[in-house]
Amino acid sequence: MANLNNNTERDQWGSKVGFILAAAGSAVGLGNLWRFPVTAGQNGGGAFVLVYFAILILVGFTLMMAELVLGRHTQLNALGAYKKIRNNWAWVGGLGVLAGFLILSFYSVIGGWVINYMFKAITGAFTTSDPEFLGGMFGAFISNPVEPLFYHAIFMILTLGIVIGGVKGGIEKYAKILMPALFVMMVLTMLRSVTLPGAMEGIKFLLVPDFSMITGAVLLSALGQVFFSLSLGMGAMITYGSYLSKDANIPQSSFIIPLVDTGIALLAGLAILPAVFSFGFDPAEGPGLLFVTLPAVFSQMPLGGLFGFVFFLLVLFAALTSSISLLEVCVAYVVDEWNMTRKKATIGLAAVIFLLGIPSSLGIGVWSHISPFRGLDILDSVDFIASNVLMPVGGFLLCIFIGWVWGLENAIKEATNEGTIPFKLAGFWSFMIKWVAPIAIAVVFVQGILS
Ligand code: PFF
Repeated sequence: MANLNNNTERDQWGSKVGFILAAAGSAVGLGNLWRFPVTAGQNGGGAFVLVYFAILILVGFTLMMAELVLGRHTQLNALGAYKKIRNNWAWVGGLGVLAGFLILSFYSVIGGWVINYMFKAITGAFTTSDPEFLGGMFGAFISNPVEPLFYHAIFMILTLGIVIGGVKGGIEKYAKILMPALFVMMVLTMLRSVTLPGAMEGIKFLLVPDFSMITGAVLLSALGQVFFSLSLGMGAMITYGSYLSKDANIPQSSFIIPLVDTGIALLAGLAILPAVFSFGFDPAEGPGLLFVTLPAVFSQMPLGGLFGFVFFLLVLFAALTSSISLLEVCVAYVVDEWNMTRKKATIGLAAVIFLLGIPSSLGIGVWSHISPFRGLDILDSVDFIASNVLMPVGGFLLCIFIGWVWGLENAIKEATNEGTIPFKLAGFWSFMIKWVAPIAIAVVFVQGILS
């Protein structure tokens, strides 16, 4: 992430690897480790994964490139980027800023749970694989009216601290070590999970699709998951793209980032779902899947407490590299458009977003009788509106904007650095952004909302 100390000189990523790590850092987070297994578990496992892949291919890669191109071309925040090209499209960027604002409010609540589970691991709370016990421990923690808010505040302060300092040096440096470390820990956890007795059931659940499970609701959940996981449809990649240098290879990055992201999501699924079946948990149990199942796996490992601590520490890091991009979308907007200093904007926004997250946390316990939307609790309602409504709508409008308003010629020119780098798939990408992606998004969205 870049350090923007004033509005005129826009900072850039330190290196090519640095950008890929930062963008992959934005994509890889709680969406992969927590939300992907939970959503797959609730939507029929293999059927969901299949649809996820289809949408990733039809929409994911295409939109990743579109956002990076738009960001680098305009060198502006989400709203400013649209405004610079067509004044009357600014509101589309505004929708994105709103989505980022909403997502961060509950993302930080879950990030707080991760911090708490780090401490639980190191103090020896993971002593058994008993579903009742672990489920009870998790339920008691998240429904407590005060404790989760304390950790929500810590997570927000960590996010704010990084964004305020400007993280170009810091994040790029740490990401180089910690992302591969997370990968190694995930592989080890996955290996333990798939070798548990009865694990095969879970592997089948995740990888063998039952076509009868594919409904409008499953399609919409997969669409929302693709947007959430790749940080698309709300201008995060526009904002990150705006710090890209003019010689960066956007087509290549747009390919690598979704691949890395999907790899980590699958690893998380394979670390969690086999254990779910082995220990007799319920795959559709919801938000607790990561926090209930993995402690059971760690309890079956030598030095499981220490392993669990390191694991949750790395999950926290992954969550922070995403939360900073969420906050950055909002900060870049306020700094660029309202001419506020970076420091003031960051602190003010973080405070408001923290307050906004409080109902999501309380909605699990003392306010669990409140269901603003579709029978969902407060956290899931905010998530639904941001991920399954605002992001797909933002993504659809992005396609229309690039394919029909700004024009493909301009986009390809930017993507290929004025024709200086090869982009063999230019024709294919043009067809996807103009026709396939918007139609796919529209069809899935309408189906899902009506179902
Ligand atoms: N992609 C992040 C994750 O999977 O955890 C979440 C996210 C970050 C969504 C940034 C949107 C965004 F702009």
